Amino acid sequence: MKKIIAANWKMNKTRAQAEESAASLVQLCKNVVSEERELVVFPPFLSIPEVAAAFADVSHFAVGAQDVYPAQNGAFTGEISPEMLRDGGAEWILTGHSERRHIIGESDDLIGRKTAFSLQQNFKTMLCIGETLEERETGQLEGVLSRQLSGALVGIPDTADWKTLAVAYEPVWAIGTGKVAGEKEIIKTHAVVRRLLLERFPDFGEKIAILYGGSVKPANASSIILLDNVDGLLVGGASLEASTFAEIVKA
Ligand code: PGA
Repeated sequence: MKKIIAANWKMNKTRAQAEESAASLVQLCKNVVSEERELVVFPPFLSIPEVAAAFADVSHFAVGAQDVYPAQNGAFTGEISPEMLRDGGAEWILTGHSERRHIIGESDDLIGRKTAFSLQQNFKTMLCIGETLEERETGQLEGVLSRQLSGALVGIPDTADWKTLAVAYEPVWAIGTGKVAGEKEIIKTHAVVRRLLLERFPDFGEKIAILYGGSVKPANASSIILLDNVDGLLVGGASLEASTFAEIVKA
């Protein structure tokens, strides 16, 4: 399966900074990004058009949105619709990121509606799941992942072929902390995610990309990307500097 290397810029960068970073990424990565290795950037909403313009002439570079509201339009103050995101140039939408679950307070139900709506609106959709340290230490890992996956996928008909779905496993305790999950933990947990996906989508669960995220850096990216069932990386802090992220893309 091709590898997806994704940058989550979170609430960082002005439009000018985003444009500059995106242009640098094209220069630094155009020789390694290919059919086999896709690069995706999730900038803040306002910078989506800038990044899309910087990626306009290169293949397999894509831009995505960090969030969406599950409605076409209407009285939803402060929210953004899939049509607006497409108009800005987004091809991907991220749903269920741990900061939206834990800081903003999004529920499994809302994340499920966002994920289903995004897929139905023909976006490639990257659903994030992951356990807290307390949940892991009290033996709830599989239960939490199963609840988050089934909650997020509840509105998705299993008859459709949702190969445009990707799942990012990001242990909450590894995000922005410098504590990367160990290789054995990643292999074990990605196998659980694969099994849960196959239970839900027996015909194509094998083809859904599973990304690892949480303190990925140039120094650990090349070993993580080779692990079983790791089809890509979702990178936060280390994606803000184009040269650092380029090292991860090349890993
Ligand atoms: P991090 O963030 O790479 O800074 O740990 C990952 C993420 O939140 O997607």
